Amino acid sequence: MRMLQRVAIVGVTGFVGHGLPTLFAEKGIAVTGVSRSANGSLPEVDRWQTPDALDFSGHDAVINLAGEPIDRRWTEKSKRLFHESRVGVTNRVVAALAKLPEHDRPKVLVNASAIGIYGDRGEEILNETACPGSDYLAALCSDWEDAAHDAGSLGVRVVCLRIGVVLGKNGAAFEKLRTIFKLGIGGRLGSGLQWMPWIHVDDLRAAIVHTVLSDSLAGPVNGTAPYPERNRDLTRKFAAALHRPAIFPVPGFVLRLVLGEFSTALLASHRVLPTALDADGFQFRYPTLETALADLVRTSPK
Ligand SMILES: NC(=O)c1ccc[n+]([C@@H]2O[C@H](COP(=O)([O-])OP(=O)(O)OC[C@H]3O[C@@H](n4cnc5c(N)ncnc54)[C@H](OP(=O)(O)O)[C@@H]3O)[C@@H](O)[C@H]2O)c1
Repeated sequence: MRMLQRVAIVGVTGFVGHGLPTLFAEKGIAVTGVSRSANGSLPEVDRWQTPDALDFSGHDAVINLAGEPIDRRWTEKSKRLFHESRVGVTNRVVAALAKLPEHDRPKVLVNASAIGIYGDRGEEILNETACPGSDYLAALCSDWEDAAHDAGSLGVRVVCLRIGVVLGKNGAAFEKLRTIFKLGIGGRLGSGLQWMPWIHVDDLRAAIVHTVLSDSLAGPVNGTAPYPERNRDLTRKFAAALHRPAIFPVPGFVLRLVLGEFSTALLASHRVLPTALDADGFQFRYPTLETALADLVRTSPK
């Protein structure tokens, strides 16, 4: 573990990012926030930049969490946005690192990626050595990671965090599922047999801080809890935690009709394990879905 003085967080205003400055402040590390609308709305962020004018001079690490949400219909226009906000922003981050003299260059880049990189893999157990898939999301994530890895040639340690479905208060996944189940219309998606790796947002934020500080981690790192769930079990446990039924399965063809290509992300099976984080000694606070849901239901407004 190294002593850091200042980190920059791109996408700090987002669901995952906005909880990070407090964690760094607790360690005495200052935070520069990067946002298109830098407005000083996070108390622990004392400097702001915009993604089109990046200057990482005086920073020890960069965390890049930028990315337009993909939970909508995938049109050609939205695909361009998904790409620009991930690959485009990452290219700009790496260009800003390249501009600096080596002695002033941040030593580490922790870049978001997603478990979608693996494609639809059925029962196969996926750790960080598994090869990428070939569908749209896998190609997008591969391009995203390639852009981040370009910083490796600058002597920067690069970690690509392959994030699973993040469960947390005010996060899209938890709030959408909660609303559906509270209305009594929740149920498995498609066959329900597909594996869905998830992670509690507190564990993800702690994992981000861990990867920034741990010099032994580099390359792809799965950001998922140690116990992924099949969609049908996730559905059942979610319903039980909310004391609601889970009796309305949504057939795959209906999902495809309503959501178009985005349905592939919900129906694909990713049996992902956090092998690199485990090997590096990272301790999950919420390793099982039951522990995560108990916390989220307890701390969410009714
Ligand atoms: N949440 C999940 O379940 C999940 C799962 C897998 C992977 N991930 C990835 O993890 C990262 C963080 O997720 P999140 O849930 O915190 O996302 P989020 O709430 O949607 O926040 C993403 C941030 O990205 C920035 N952004 C969006 N479009 C941008 C653009 N065109 N240029 C520059 N910045 C842009 C936004 O910042 P400003 O508006 O302030 O500029 C926003 O705060 C994302 O890359 C996401 O794809 C998330």
